[in-house]
Amino acid sequence: MMRVLAISGSLRAASTNSALLRAAAAAAPDGVTVTVFTGLDGRGVGSLPLFNPDEDGDPPPPAVKDLRDSLVAADAVVIACPEYAHGVPGALKNALDWVVASSEMVDKPVALMHASPRSTYAREALTEILTVISARLIDDASITIPLMGKTPEDAAATLARAESVAALRNALTAIETAVTASAAR
Ligand SMILES: Cc1cc2nc3c(=O)[nH]c(=O)nc-3n(C[C@H](O)[C@H](O)[C@H](O)COP(=O)(O)O)c2cc1C
Repeated sequence: MMRVLAISGSLRAASTNSALLRAAAAAAPDGVTVTVFTGLDGRGVGSLPLFNPDEDGDPPPPAVKDLRDSLVAADAVVIACPEYAHGVPGALKNALDWVVASSEMVDKPVALMHASPRSTYAREALTEILTVISARLIDDASITIPLMGKTPEDAAATLARAESVAALRNALTAIETAVTASAAR
């Protein structure tokens, strides 16, 4: 069984990026489970505080431990995120900042899934961040399904189309292949 942790960089209830990740979970081939991580928004029990190295003690804040444990338990990570003002959304950057020094992302296979064909600055910035923390980007598994500006109903209809389901399933299969290949190294 391959376990994938899916992280959406959008906190919107009607987020197209989160919808994309839920669709990936639903499209997962046999032997692959996709769990969508919720806890980026800094609100409520179990949510990440703003990154502060002073607070990264032993033990770390519970939500930070939860994020790190979830990453350790995952064979791979999928990230879908919007672009805000040509950058990576703060909530996602905050989560990644919590795992720089603790190293859970080192050698972790990561695929980017895009719900917008724009977002080129965010893609580039995210690629740079993931590279510098030594994650392993799986280019074959990076897909774009344009959902930007769609209502939740239209986004759901697009994601339910056979070609979307196939694209998501192929991406997850590409992740599985990359994970298996690295395990055999
Ligand atoms: C404040 C704000 C700034 C944005 N800046 C950009 C931008 O710089 N480039 C871009 O391509 N889209 C930008 N967008 C559009 C979002 O990236 C887009 O709506 C995205 O699909 C939303 O994702 P979500 O549905 O998962 O929340 C911006 C949206 C907001 C609300």
